[in-house]
Amino acid sequence: MSGPSTYVPQTGLTRWLDTRLPLVRFAHDTMLSFPTPRNLNFWYAFGAILTFCLGVQIVTGIVLAMHYTPSALVGSIPDSNLAFDSVESIMRDVNYGWLLRYVHANGASMFFLAVYIHMFRGLYYGSYKAPREVLWILGVIIYVLMVLTAFMGYSLVWGNMSFWAVTVITNLFSSLDQVIPHLGSAIATWLWGGFAVGDATLNRFFSLHYLMPFVIAGVVGLHIWALHVPGNNNPLGIDVKGPQDTVPFHPYYTVKDGFYVALFAILFAALVFYAPDLVGDPNNFIPANPVVTPADIVPEWYLRPFYAMLRSIPQQLAGVLVLAGALLTLVFIPWLDSSRVRSNRFRPVMKVFFWVFVADCILLGYCGSEGVDAAWHLGGIELSLVWVARIATAYYYIYFWVLMPLIGLIERPLPLPDSIAKSVLGASAAPAE
Ligand code: HEM
Repeated sequence: MSGPSTYVPQTGLTRWLDTRLPLVRFAHDTMLSFPTPRNLNFWYAFGAILTFCLGVQIVTGIVLAMHYTPSALVGSIPDSNLAFDSVESIMRDVNYGWLLRYVHANGASMFFLAVYIHMFRGLYYGSYKAPREVLWILGVIIYVLMVLTAFMGYSLVWGNMSFWAVTVITNLFSSLDQVIPHLGSAIATWLWGGFAVGDATLNRFFSLHYLMPFVIAGVVGLHIWALHVPGNNNPLGIDVKGPQDTVPFHPYYTVKDGFYVALFAILFAALVFYAPDLVGDPNNFIPANPVVTPADIVPEWYLRPFYAMLRSIPQQLAGVLVLAGALLTLVFIPWLDSSRVRSNRFRPVMKVFFWVFVADCILLGYCGSEGVDAAWHLGGIELSLVWVARIATAYYYIYFWVLMPLIGLIERPLPLPDSIAKSVLGASAAPAE
């Protein structure tokens, strides 16, 4: 925690507890009195929004699991399966089951929307730079866990897109056969629990999908611990120089974060109540069918940028390596950025490349949504989207491995303000100590 504790127990009970298990002191120091930079903006509400999303997913998920059957076996409905039937029963028979399911399914989308904003915010303000490297890496671990959790959760419906998504992605492991014969196929068989995607696969995915959010919650605990040691970065990217630069977390940020969580919840509710199937795939209204492949197998929107990278490379193993490398790259960012200045607010050159990078990720997502034969017709020229995805993938790597190290060395940053207080309060600020 940052600085000595200011907690004074007021009652007999809290004094007694404080000398045995100082839980109230911990809550007070981390959530109430914690000194927080006074200039945190809207983008800093996303940590609280993410915590809200994780809570919503866990609560709705636990109740859904009470009514769900993790079985690929055929039930009373011919050509369907018990898992799909149980999801339909949740939608039709369970009281407010439709609400639980739509909140959980759209909750995953809202969670990813929030996490992407949170990550881009961190990139823009240089929040990964020393002394916050561990905080950032824990974030990357959370993100990878979120991807795995969402992938396994999507399989649970055991609709036709669920089934084929699992088949395509788990089959990627078989590309390792090109390195060591049979290794990849052996891993795939081990993952499936059989010789094809089936009942055993669904069972283990259900078990892991239930477990992982709690692992994520544990890593989030570490993430916030690692945040509280150096304290928050802020939009200026300069260090806190004294008490005049901070305000206590409560009431200032409890109220501000609470307001934005409420706004986010309204947006979330609009999606759930007015467009609950907006981001879903129609193929998942059809029970899993191992002999009918959907015309285009595409993941949910939040995984499409990475899917576009994978698909743009004709050689499967190379595609897998490019995809894994793109995720692994995130771990090295704190050491790839050579700039002395954290925030892009003061980096006129890097700022431009940052926004190109944001557009690049959106473009990759778009490429991942389109069919494999899709092309742009520019005048008389036909530009295959596979090539657009290749160029966008190249920019993703160039941004981190070339531009980040290089621009930090050659760019001349704008002058930094003396202190957070001076920047916020102008001349009326007390001098920094
Ligand atoms: C379940 C997912 C996550 C939760 C609940 C979470 C929670 C939080 C919270 C509460 C904060 C402090 C408030 C704020 O700055 O917004 C924070 C800060 C931060 N998070 Fe996360 N986080 C999550 C995922 C991630 C991911 C995926 C990354 C990056 C890969 C990340 C990187 C950071 C960084 C760098 C900060 C410090 C920002 C600053 O001080 O400028 N987080 N996180």
